[in-house]
Amino acid sequence: MSTFTIDSGTSRATPTPVPGKRMTVPAIRARKIDGQTAEPLVMLTAYTMRMAQLLDPHCEMLLVGDSLGQVIYGLPSTVPVTLEMMCAHGAAVVRGSWHALVAVDMPFGSYESSPETAFASAARIMKESGCAAVKLEGGEAMAETIAFLTNRGIPVIGHVGLTPQAVNVLGGYGARGKSAVEATKIVGDAKAVAEAGAFCVVVEGVMESIANELTKAIAVPTIGIGASPNCDGQVLVTEDMLGLFERTPRFVKRYDDLAARITTAATTYAQEVRARAFPTEEQTYRPKP
Ligand code: KIV
Repeated sequence: MSTFTIDSGTSRATPTPVPGKRMTVPAIRARKIDGQTAEPLVMLTAYTMRMAQLLDPHCEMLLVGDSLGQVIYGLPSTVPVTLEMMCAHGAAVVRGSWHALVAVDMPFGSYESSPETAFASAARIMKESGCAAVKLEGGEAMAETIAFLTNRGIPVIGHVGLTPQAVNVLGGYGARGKSAVEATKIVGDAKAVAEAGAFCVVVEGVMESIANELTKAIAVPTIGIGASPNCDGQVLVTEDMLGLFERTPRFVKRYDDLAARITTAATTYAQEVRARAFPTEEQTYRPKP
């Protein structure tokens, strides 16, 4: 049995996926016509069923990012994230969504060594999660792998600029492309992954001029994160934009302050339990008179 079929009678995960109603890879790709995207594409990260349910109606794409390493598991970077984690969270997000295209990140170490290794990892992610696409980091060096996957039925999202899985090579998470040489390399990377068959390209943490240049240079949509408004779409880590963490990068806009709201709710709950003010009669089972 596939891991993404669900018993809707016993699960809170409603609605179940509606076949044929999801955004498709060709539909995403077709949003950019002759170099123009009339309405920017909306992408957010999701790692759980409930968050997927809430975000799904508002997004063209949900990304099960390997940022779940830090956000869900408290890991120091995305490097320790495993295929098992990505498959399990990918399946949860597919179960909680019916409209958005769900893409799952390929974790560090699961695709770099050869196109064949990448195919085995990507096929496992797609079979176990039910997602429609995978995302992998890297530019020119990954072009052969992207072509290998797309030619074998695996849609791929590229990811250039700041590539967090390479944090140990880059030395940190600072914006990329400050020198002319690096800027040229990033534009070349975007062109290489697009020409290899990526149906869109995430562009992370780059100077505005680079986002501008590469968005004009490639035929497929660019999805920016810390990459200016000059992209064909935008993505953020949902927990960042909801204000769940004390520190957020400069490029994040906080649309809420959920950390403060959760703290208030937990404080009130704790006070009421200690004061025996919760539960009340309303929340208590008693035999009917
Ligand atoms: O892992 C992730 O969440 C990502 C986005 C930041 C683009 O790759």
